[in-house]
Amino acid sequence: MDRAEAPAGRLPVVVVGAGAMGGEWLRMLARSAFAEPVGVVDLDVDLATRTVASIGLTDAAVGSSLADVVERSGARAVINVTVPQAHRVVNEEAMRAGLPVLCEKPLAPTVAEALRQVALADLTGGLLMASQSRRYFRHLAAFRDATASLGALGAVHAQFFHEDHEPGFREQMAHPLLVDMSVHHFDMLRYLTADEPVSVRCASWNPPWSWFAGDAAATATFDLASGARFVYSGSRCTPGLQTSWNADWHIYAERGAAHWDGDHLVEADAVGVAVGDGVEVGDTSEGIEGALEEFVGAVATGRTPQNEVRTNVMTLAMVEGAIRSSERGDDQVVLAELLEESLAQAIVDEKSDDVVELLRSWPSAAEAIATPPWGTAPQPVLHASGGAR
Ligand SMILES: NC(=O)c1ccc[n+]([C@@H]2O[C@H](COP(=O)([O-])OP(=O)(O)OC[C@H]3O[C@@H](n4cnc5c(N)ncnc54)[C@H](O)[C@@H]3O)[C@@H](O)[C@H]2O)c1
Repeated sequence: MDRAEAPAGRLPVVVVGAGAMGGEWLRMLARSAFAEPVGVVDLDVDLATRTVASIGLTDAAVGSSLADVVERSGARAVINVTVPQAHRVVNEEAMRAGLPVLCEKPLAPTVAEALRQVALADLTGGLLMASQSRRYFRHLAAFRDATASLGALGAVHAQFFHEDHEPGFREQMAHPLLVDMSVHHFDMLRYLTADEPVSVRCASWNPPWSWFAGDAAATATFDLASGARFVYSGSRCTPGLQTSWNADWHIYAERGAAHWDGDHLVEADAVGVAVGDGVEVGDTSEGIEGALEEFVGAVATGRTPQNEVRTNVMTLAMVEGAIRSSERGDDQVVLAELLEESLAQAIVDEKSDDVVELLRSWPSAAEAIATPPWGTAPQPVLHASGGAR
């Protein structure tokens, strides 16, 4: 697939969170033909001011209040790059204000928090998309094409080994590997196979030399709906033989096998499947740029993007299922049960009457996340070059 066509005008956006990744987003947005960073919000206004100045965004509005910065900047969408614990609150404020939101992964630390956001998206008719940016790699798309020609899946193996020094919330959280990093790999599994996870067994631990407070290593095995298995192992404190950030992948299937090193090597051992230099990788934008372009296209057209909030819930269920399993001593966790328990928890936790009422009316969480998402029901469509209509 070729690079997405840029809209006639850039979508004016506010970036919330001016930390390490907020800076990455702002640098990318400053040169994007798809969106324009017109405002920056952070609890730490000095940090936001320094970040904006360092990128040369002299006209951007800066502040600690989303409503105020939106009003001053004329932004028509929000990109949420705050810490995971703050994602839901920021997303909810934006959706209540009628603004479409692109939120960094993980969309929420728990499935219960994600379901509350599904309900608000239902109520407001707004767009909430998770930026699962590791879906947007050309060689991953080529690996997916190779996988599709191998017939029925037997097993998918992914290994992620990294030495990762990023002081801050990651080094303090209970599950820095599963919540902050494996969420990418679990989501990539869903993109690669279009198979859905059914259950998981997982063990997580913290190696003795780890500089993380929580579990920096894990192994997990998922049963998939097709009957295939997804076998995952990872560590964020491995000072040797490191894999790509995208992990290293092997697929074993009915008519052969395929491998992707997570970077630029895609190979297959199967008759008629292109490998090495023969692999077509196209010209699509990668990483957060790819996620942004899909989001802007969705805002402009009403098309449902990958990882619209409802579809992202199963990625988060893989993460929480793995955590629950590890906390129960490697017991099997059935994700359909986790979904319904999370709905009950969401009803207990939610404070807004309209959201509670909607959550209570759902026949099940599984049905709620299968309801027609963004773009399939009549709703206002924002255009990159014009106003709402
Ligand atoms: N896609 C990727 O490859 C990738 C890479 C790194 C980080 N991330 C994600 O980006 C997000 C941010 O990570 P980071 O490394 O920049 O973290 P960080 O701690 O460096 O920055 C987060 C910023 O958010 C601000 N913040 C927190 N709560 C807020 C609130 N309620 N309102 C406004 N500002 C608030 C903090 O003051 C801080 O400046 C995380 O969700 C992380 O998982 C994604």
